[in-house]
Amino acid sequence: MGKNKKIGIYPGTFDPITNGHLDIIKRALKLFDLVIVAVGENPQKTPLFSVEERIFLVKEAVKELSESDRVKVEAFSGLLIDFAQKKSASAIIRGLRAVSDFEYEMQLALMNRKLSNSIDTIFLLTSLKWIFLSSSIVKEVAKFGGNIDDLVPRVVAEKLREKFK
Ligand code: COA
Repeated sequence: MGKNKKIGIYPGTFDPITNGHLDIIKRALKLFDLVIVAVGENPQKTPLFSVEERIFLVKEAVKELSESDRVKVEAFSGLLIDFAQKKSASAIIRGLRAVSDFEYEMQLALMNRKLSNSIDTIFLLTSLKWIFLSSSIVKEVAKFGGNIDDLVPRVVAEKLREKFK
């Protein structure tokens, strides 16, 4: 990557990736030359899928994007801001759904800014059709055998069915 390439980091737990996350990646590709999807641990969550499984699912899911060569998927641990700096990112990308996301997102963004003033967080609005979507709600529906085919990439729907068989 040349020095003037704009790199955006899109971090999350992605347990698992949903169509809403994919929508944000697509939007981010219009703003950045390279989007690094950073699959991490949120200490407040106990994931259903291992990091390896979550990375596999993100990689499979982004294959369906037309410019998937400009997306990289990587694991990270420790502080997000350290990872972002190591990757020479210009910005951290987060998706916003409802107003209820805002307080938590602002707290993360301001803490990241306190840790390093050189990387800003930018918020992208999810498409209206995914506004109600979250990984937790998808897992809950899948657990009880509900249909999630319209909400997640096909490979994710398959893996969820396997998990809850
Ligand atoms: N469409 C659908 N769902 C979306 C979405 C979108 N566009 N954007 C977010 N979500 C959902 C996710 O599915 C997830 O749902 P869930 O809570 O039911 O699992 C939720 O919103 C938020 O999850 P996600 O976007 O994966 O992020 P996260 O909040 O789990 O991740 C980290 C937070 C990993 C970025 C943060 O914990 C972190 O930076 N950790 C590293 C340690 C660190 O640096 N800590 C200090 C930070 S200041």
